[in-house]
Amino acid sequence: MTVVHDNLEKTEAKMSAEAVSVFYGDKKAINEVSIDIPTEYVTAFIGPSGCGKSTFLRTLNRMNDTIPSARVEGCIKLDGDDIYASGMDVVQLRARVGMVFQKPNPFPKSIYENIAYGPKIHGLAEGKDELDAIVERSLKRAGLWEEVKDRLQDSGTALSGGQQQRLCIARAIAVDPEVILMDEPCSALDPIATAKIEELIAELNGRYAIVIVTHSMQQAARVSQRTAFFHLGKMVEYGRTSDIFTNPLEQRTQDYITGRYG
Ligand SMILES: Nc1ncnc2c1ncn2[C@@H]1O[C@H](COP(=O)(O)OP(=O)(O)OP(=O)(O)O)[C@@H](O)[C@H]1O
Ligand SMILES: [Mg+2]
Repeated sequence: MTVVHDNLEKTEAKMSAEAVSVFYGDKKAINEVSIDIPTEYVTAFIGPSGCGKSTFLRTLNRMNDTIPSARVEGCIKLDGDDIYASGMDVVQLRARVGMVFQKPNPFPKSIYENIAYGPKIHGLAEGKDELDAIVERSLKRAGLWEEVKDRLQDSGTALSGGQQQRLCIARAIAVDPEVILMDEPCSALDPIATAKIEELIAELNGRYAIVIVTHSMQQAARVSQRTAFFHLGKMVEYGRTSDIFTNPLEQRTQDYITGRYG
């Protein structure tokens, strides 16, 4: 059903989705989507509004569980383990598969606590020194340390939008995730803050499997190496980002990237 380009290197799937469908009540929002998410590349999900990008992204760390009408069919694996299996610890899963949202959502707590909270509840630090080290490392990795190191006790919500988004990325990183899902992480940011997040994604690339939903084709082209085009709940085409944008095989992909809809 999905047209998959045949020039892709073989990669190991950090996550794999097999025939995943999602329903909201009776309405099918995602129709049998199958895709592998590797660690080596940043994967972009693109497609017109309402095509199901966020819905599918949320299946990857069971955020759909929080929507009562949502139901997921098919199989999603993380390192080969079914994440919808009954024994799966969802709190643990969401630490392994972190998520960054469209609107930065720091906790109404200090910058320090925003980062320290996850490692504390997951028991990743023994004592204050270790926790301090995790906070510093996470903020450094998220490119925020220099801007906040002298005011770690200030509220996270007092930061600018772009800083808040980097704080949220630092928060996701702090629990040592394997996958980071980003749902339009730059849509509330100005071009400079956007450029910083894009640089950050480039730096994190390879360390974590990263999936980014974006409405900006320029952004997808800049940050990702693999692109999946969604339309009406289906994954229409998947391939190298450069090929999807310059050599799409499907008419619907062509129409979207040339701005005919969306
Ligand atoms: N909580 C919900 N309850 C019912 N239907 C929903 C819910 N969330 C999304 N939908 C429906 O599922 C479909 C896919 O929505 P989704 O938000 O996944 O699309 P999207 O591709 O992320 O769109 P956008 O680019 O606008 O963010 C739409 O028809 C939408 O109306
Ligand atoms: Mg969305």
